[in-house]
Amino acid sequence: MSRPAPAPEAGARLAILTSGGDAPGMNMAIWAACAEAERRGRRVLGVRDGFAGLLARRADPLTADGMLHLARRGGTALGTARVPDLPSRRDDVHAALHGLDVEGLIVLGGNGSLAASEMFAADGGTVVGVPATIDNDVRGCPASIGFDSALETGVRLADGIRDSGEALPRLFSLETLGGDTGHLAEAIGRAVCADAVLRPEAPLATEAIVAAVRPVLEAGRAALIVASEGYPDLDAQLARVSAAVGVRLRDSRIGHAQRGGAPSPRDRLLARDLGEEAVRAVLEGDACRVVPDDGRGVLRVRTSADR
Ligand code: F6P
Repeated sequence: MSRPAPAPEAGARLAILTSGGDAPGMNMAIWAACAEAERRGRRVLGVRDGFAGLLARRADPLTADGMLHLARRGGTALGTARVPDLPSRRDDVHAALHGLDVEGLIVLGGNGSLAASEMFAADGGTVVGVPATIDNDVRGCPASIGFDSALETGVRLADGIRDSGEALPRLFSLETLGGDTGHLAEAIGRAVCADAVLRPEAPLATEAIVAAVRPVLEAGRAALIVASEGYPDLDAQLARVSAAVGVRLRDSRIGHAQRGGAPSPRDRLLARDLGEEAVRAVLEGDACRVVPDDGRGVLRVRTSADR
């Protein structure tokens, strides 16, 4: 028989919010945080719509029971927002946190959200960051929540293009999400043996792309270029490649369908681990970022490099 959770002390609660782009697995992390907090006699406040909601003091109590049916779903039950001037609103954020009367704040988000969180932690708050972004662009973190699911979606769609290309050879391109980084595009491209991968971090000359796809087309096979959305001047670049090889381009764009959908099993497990560890970190007063290590354990790190 499971033991009842200890009665929470007055004011013994913590807050959680999701920030930036949503990512599959955020709901699982929220559920895991609620369950861990309840095991430790704490209550959880769910802040609505990221830092925008925190600044507006929009928060409601959350329970593990209430979150359970959402844990396996994509998106985020808390909603999210982008607040471009967040770094300049340190005092407002601290006043809002003080107003909520919480022991600490857990932030689920990508590189920008976590860098801002570290600033607030440096001011003296207990703020714990959890990397959750399909872009997998959080420094010092090998895998963020959501990346594996977005990779799976991208690979499934690229496989579809490959299947069709085996029947009827074409020049194909597939544009992925990824912001100004190429981690998603590169992983998808590698997983489907793309002929060229276009990453914003290392733009290629048109001739290099042509050299990669021309022999494939000349051999009577389909050529596939996987590109990240942030690649500079992508449409023009692809048009130049198409003109150079004299073959019409069939282009596909995944768009936001890549950000939604149910989290993969791997993301669910990661989200559970990081959500639980984030609660333990808050209760120990440890302002940090929780990340998976290579052995799939969980590490707490403090980085100043992002600030
Ligand atoms: O959160 C990351 C991300 O999904 C990027 O891959 C993408 O460029 C961006 O968000 C899209 O953001 P928005 O939904 O605000 O247009």
